[in-house]
Amino acid sequence: MSNVICEALGIRYPIILGGLARVGTASLAAAVSNAGGLGLLGAGSWNGVELRDQIRRARELTGQPFGVNVPVRSDYAEELIETVIAEGIKAVATSAGNPRRFTSRLQEHNIFVMHVVPTSSYAVVAEEAGVNAVVAEGVESGGMTSLEEISTFVLVPQVVDAVKCPVIAAGGIGDGRGLAAALALGAVGVQMGTAFMATEECEISRAFKEMMVRAVETDTRLFRRDRSSRRTFKEDFFQAALKDWPNLLSDLKRDPDASFRGAGQVAGLVSEIQPVKEIIERMIREAREILPGISEKLS
Ligand SMILES: Cc1cc2nc3c(=O)[nH]c(=O)nc-3n(C[C@H](O)[C@H](O)[C@H](O)COP(=O)(O)O)c2cc1C
Repeated sequence: MSNVICEALGIRYPIILGGLARVGTASLAAAVSNAGGLGLLGAGSWNGVELRDQIRRARELTGQPFGVNVPVRSDYAEELIETVIAEGIKAVATSAGNPRRFTSRLQEHNIFVMHVVPTSSYAVVAEEAGVNAVVAEGVESGGMTSLEEISTFVLVPQVVDAVKCPVIAAGGIGDGRGLAAALALGAVGVQMGTAFMATEECEISRAFKEMMVRAVETDTRLFRRDRSSRRTFKEDFFQAALKDWPNLLSDLKRDPDASFRGAGQVAGLVSEIQPVKEIIERMIREAREILPGISEKLS
């Protein structure tokens, strides 16, 4: 497969594990990298020492390239960036803030910089800051999103038109149909979060993964705040799950990550807890089958 983002990142498939604060640990990131994608360690809640430990753990689990997500507004952003450089990481996805703050410092060390954007105007700002690629993330996505509620289907082609750098699509992608659609919209690859949470290698509680299997596309909602919003499971869905699984609450209480309850609309597509490798291989197989069929439908 010849793909600009695969060549730049040294990966086999254009599939990236998005930064998942508290959830994107070495186990999950290494599994994505071992399966041919790019795993990102989600450093959003860590300090420099915690990140360094996760990087070293990931190196024990994979010999493949992996990267780090650094939210620019993290209290620890400076030390996370210095740790990334000191540890010889070659790919960073910045998010939540202006990429100008760190892009040239990272690139001095030959680090490939991607920045997550919610609109085409932010994509232009990121490109002007010199990033190597942008991740266009639609409102479907789990976790923190912007107050602009633009869906991936609408966002990606407009970002593709607005910038010259490669565009990676994120938000609502969970299978080979989503990958094929993202490529059709002009993206060079995809970034996923929610679908990778319902995997064996993800270190969140089993209970939270089971909730993802049960969820349908209407079971999440956006909670708006002053500067951003967050997509999590709805309260009534959560309460119903509690009734059916009496152990759920105690499981979740043991799991500090699950209190966050972040998940995207694509949780509705998750039908089982699987190894990461199976998700990635199925996506590639499906996308390869779908894409030639599309041109037949138009002939
Ligand atoms: C639980 C959770 C935590 C997240 N934390 C972060 C984060 O710390 N930084 C970030 O840039 N994106 C974060 N995201 C967004 C993901 O990196 C990714 O772009 C998003 O999940 C893609 O949409 P999807 O959930 O529909 O696959 C998070 C998403 C989830 C579900």
